[in-house]
Amino acid sequence: MIVSPSLLSADFGDLKSEMEWFNQSTADWLHLDVMDGVFVPNISFGFPVLKYVAKLCKKPLDVHLMIVQPEKFVQEVKDLGAYIMNVHYEACPHLHRVIGQIHEAGMKAGVTLNPATPVNVLRDIIADVDLVLLMSVNPGFGGQKFIPHTTEKVKELRKLIDETGSKALIEIDGGVNQETGKLLKDAGADVLVAGNYIFKASNPSDACAQLSSL
Ligand code: DX5
Ligand code: ZN
Repeated sequence: MIVSPSLLSADFGDLKSEMEWFNQSTADWLHLDVMDGVFVPNISFGFPVLKYVAKLCKKPLDVHLMIVQPEKFVQEVKDLGAYIMNVHYEACPHLHRVIGQIHEAGMKAGVTLNPATPVNVLRDIIADVDLVLLMSVNPGFGGQKFIPHTTEKVKELRKLIDETGSKALIEIDGGVNQETGKLLKDAGADVLVAGNYIFKASNPSDACAQLSSL
């Protein structure tokens, strides 16, 4: 399983140490949650902090923008050296154009769906995206409870990807732990994001390895 630990649950007072264990761990990507207090009812961190983290991080950056008008920040995300830029379907009336801009900037393009957004809205864009990020909690906060219906959405999305010959990976974000991670894997997920389960564990590296081995 590809694992993308979410920095949102890290100790911001000691990011250096957090990135030290992280770089040595089985984690594949680092998930970075940017919030604007408009699209979601919370504010996390912005580009000055992300630039510092990007310098310390030796793994690909998986950037999740929970902001309105994410197309305004394609250049900033590219300048971080990000591997993937995820934008919300609900924040992009011109999603096809935004996906094109992300690709032109040389990054992988991910589209994110809130829990109440059905998978079938992606039918006409699925061939153009590299990844679909399904929210399994309402975005804005770490440590929330997994919404069980997500496993059904993963199965539907897997069907849509197979039917259309898309190469998109399926990533899940919110309330992931060993138990929900196993359900998601069985449903067809490729990538798991985990914040609290990894960063708040007594041994984060072990918690990460548990998810990697699912
Ligand atoms: C929530 C964020 C998540 C969050 C997940 O809006 O998108 O990435 O960090 O945290 P956990 O794994 O604790 O639910
Ligand atoms: Zn996220």
